[in-house]
Amino acid sequence: MRPPRTIIEPFRIKTVEPLNFTTPQRRRDALREAQFNPFKLHARDITIDLLTDSGTGAMSAAQWAAMMTGDETYAGSESYYRLESVVRELTGVRHVIPTHQGRASEHILFSVLDVKGRCVLANSHFDTTRANVEYLGGEAVDLLTPQGADPRTDLPFKGDIDLVRLEELLEARCKQVAAVLMTVTNNAGGGQPVSLANLRQASAMARARGVPFVLDAARFAENAWFIHEREGDPRTPREIAREMFGLCDAFTFSAKKDGLVNIGGLLGLNDDTLADRARSLLILTEGFPTYGGLAGRDLDALAVGLQEVTDEHYLRYRIASVRYLFDLLDRGGVPLMRPAGGHAVYIDAAALYPHIPPVQLPGVALCNELYLEAGVRGVEIGTLMFGKRDACARHELVRLAFPRRVYTQSHVDWLGEVILEVASRRERAPGYRIVRQGPVLRAFTAELAPLT
Ligand code: F0G
Repeated sequence: MRPPRTIIEPFRIKTVEPLNFTTPQRRRDALREAQFNPFKLHARDITIDLLTDSGTGAMSAAQWAAMMTGDETYAGSESYYRLESVVRELTGVRHVIPTHQGRASEHILFSVLDVKGRCVLANSHFDTTRANVEYLGGEAVDLLTPQGADPRTDLPFKGDIDLVRLEELLEARCKQVAAVLMTVTNNAGGGQPVSLANLRQASAMARARGVPFVLDAARFAENAWFIHEREGDPRTPREIAREMFGLCDAFTFSAKKDGLVNIGGLLGLNDDTLADRARSLLILTEGFPTYGGLAGRDLDALAVGLQEVTDEHYLRYRIASVRYLFDLLDRGGVPLMRPAGGHAVYIDAAALYPHIPPVQLPGVALCNELYLEAGVRGVEIGTLMFGKRDACARHELVRLAFPRRVYTQSHVDWLGEVILEVASRRERAPGYRIVRQGPVLRAFTAELAPLT
C-alpha cells in the first residue's frame, strides 16, 4: 500500500485560543496608532502573527503536566537535575548552566572567553550575538560562503562557513581568535542549515589551534533534520544532534526556539575553569546555578521540550509546513530567498517592489500591506533593521517566521491567498520614511510615515 502523501500535523488539539479578527478600518487605524511600525501593534489587532518563532510555540500536554512537578527550591532544585540529565544525554556536555534566554548565555560566554581586543569568527552572528561580542570589546566576523549570502542560489547548505577564509584568518590571527562560532540554522541568512561535513571541518580547524568551537544551537533540531534529509544521513535527528554537540567545546542555546518553551536558555561548557567563571557571573546577573533566572517549572517544561523536539514526526511536519508556504508563494511568482529554510519564509521585498528604493523601506512597505490586507504580521529584515542612518542594508527581506505547533495547514493556505493577493497589487504599495528613530536598534521603536 502506498502511504498518503499529505504530511499531517503530528498532534491533536486539546486547548484552543481564538484568533483575533479585525475590520479593514480597524487595521488602518491600528497601523496609524502604531506609527506604521508593526512592532508597535497590539496583539489583539493581529490575526496571524509571524513576527517570530521565538517563545511563541505551543507546549504539549506532557510539558504542562511537567510544570506541575516543578521544584521551586532556591538551591538544589530537583527540576534542575532532571533538566541537567536530559541535556547531558542529548549533548554530552559536562556543565549545564540555565539562563533566562539565549542572549544571557551569550553575554556570559563571551565574558569568560575574554573577547576584548579579539575576534569571533562565525558563519553568521545573530544580532544579539554580534551585539554581545561588540559590547564586550570584541570583533564579530561573518564568514558565510558567497553562495550562502546570495538569496537566489538554490543550494542545500547555505549556512556553511567559508572554510578557505576561516583557515586564512585562523592562520593570520590565531592568537586573537577568541572562538569559532557556528549558528545552526543560520537565522540571519534565511534559516539555512549548516552541513555536518562543514561543522566537522570547521571544528577540526579550530581545535587544531586550540581555539574554542562554539555552537549557537537555537535551532539545532531543525538543522539536524536538514542533515538527515539533505545530506542523506541515515541516523535519527537525535543521533545527528549528538554528533553536532560533540564537535563543540561550548554552546549557547535560546530555549525559546528548539526548546519548545516560551522562555529559557542554556549555556553548555566542557571546560571546568570556564564553567566556574561562568557560574560566578551567572550568580551576579541571572541567579543561583540550579535555576539561572528561571522558575523550577520552566526547567521541567524545557526538559520535556528537549525530548519532544527531536521527534521525527514533529520535525518532518515542521520543515514541511515552512516548505508548503514557500511552494505556494514560489508557484505564484513571489520572489523568495531560496531554498525554503527551517523556521521561516523570507520574501525578497526589493525584488517584489522594484518601484520602492531601499531608502524608502520596501520591507516595511510589504509588512504593512500584509497587515492592512488581513492582519498578518511579519518582520522587516532590511534597511530599517540593519541599515545605518546613511547606509542601506544588503538585502530587503520580510521574514515570515512560524511559531512551533501553533498554526495548521488551513492557516497556511489562507496565508498563501493573502500574500498572493498583496503581491498581485504590488505597484500600489507606497514607500515609507522614518519620522523618528532611536540611537540603537531603531527598528523596534522607529516612527514611520507612508510616502503617498
Ligand atoms: N541566536 C539566534 C540564532 C537567534 O535567532 C536568537 C533569537 C538568539 C540567539 C537570541 O536568543 O532571544 O532567547 O535571547 N532570535 C529571535 C528571532 C529573537 O526572532 O529570531 P534570545
